[in-house]
Amino acid sequence: MESQILKNVPMFSALSDENIEKIAPLLKKQKYKKNTMILMEDDSGDSLFIIENGSVKITRYSEDGREVILSILGEGDFFGEMSILDGESRSANVVSLENSEICMLSRDDLLDILEKYPSVAIALLEELALRLRKSDQHIEGLSLSDAESRVAMSIIRISEQLGKIKKGQVIIEKLPFQHDIANMAGTSRETVSRVLRILEEKQHITKNGRKLLIVDYSEFIKKFG
Ligand code: CMP
Repeated sequence: MESQILKNVPMFSALSDENIEKIAPLLKKQKYKKNTMILMEDDSGDSLFIIENGSVKITRYSEDGREVILSILGEGDFFGEMSILDGESRSANVVSLENSEICMLSRDDLLDILEKYPSVAIALLEELALRLRKSDQHIEGLSLSDAESRVAMSIIRISEQLGKIKKGQVIIEKLPFQHDIANMAGTSRETVSRVLRILEEKQHITKNGRKLLIVDYSEFIKKFG
């Protein structure tokens, strides 16, 4: 990974240019085509992954074989830290949602960096706290009874990961497929399609192909967040 790109990765953003230059050569870039299984639940894990561009979904399967999406991660995000930190196997599957370029850092190099650079360790802990917060909100959201709120909550989660804010509006350039949104919201694809149509009719969102715009983000969060 080029050092320029590394500077935009939140985990490394507090590092000096000099230290970024030392870390950059440790990362190995790999390209993944859309829909590739990058990590599998229960595999043993010895690398951290950083998304240079593209996006991934973090999934597990319920007992009846349904895919449950725990999170969607995009540019600058990392995954694969859990098994490095606790020595257990991979806690979830990670699948690319589009063609993606992802950099790998070995376990030993990561542990070395965490010891040498406290700002990286603190940034990692901050991100873990944020993920725990989101999981808490997600668990709360799943108890919502009506499908409209559950789908809207999932749209908010996706916009937090992949959306770009501009003048109070949020644009998601590549909305995940409806069956993926359904698996995030714990509902069916048909319900997602119906709810998206209702949200459009109520002018909360506009859609054009896979591009989705939340017309008034703060209003949307007030209503559904
Ligand atoms: P690891 O367990 O090594 O492999 C799967 C990865 O998925 C895990 O590390 C985390 O990086 C990521 N992951 C698991 N659960 C979540 C979650 N709830 N939110 C975001 N990322 C997650």
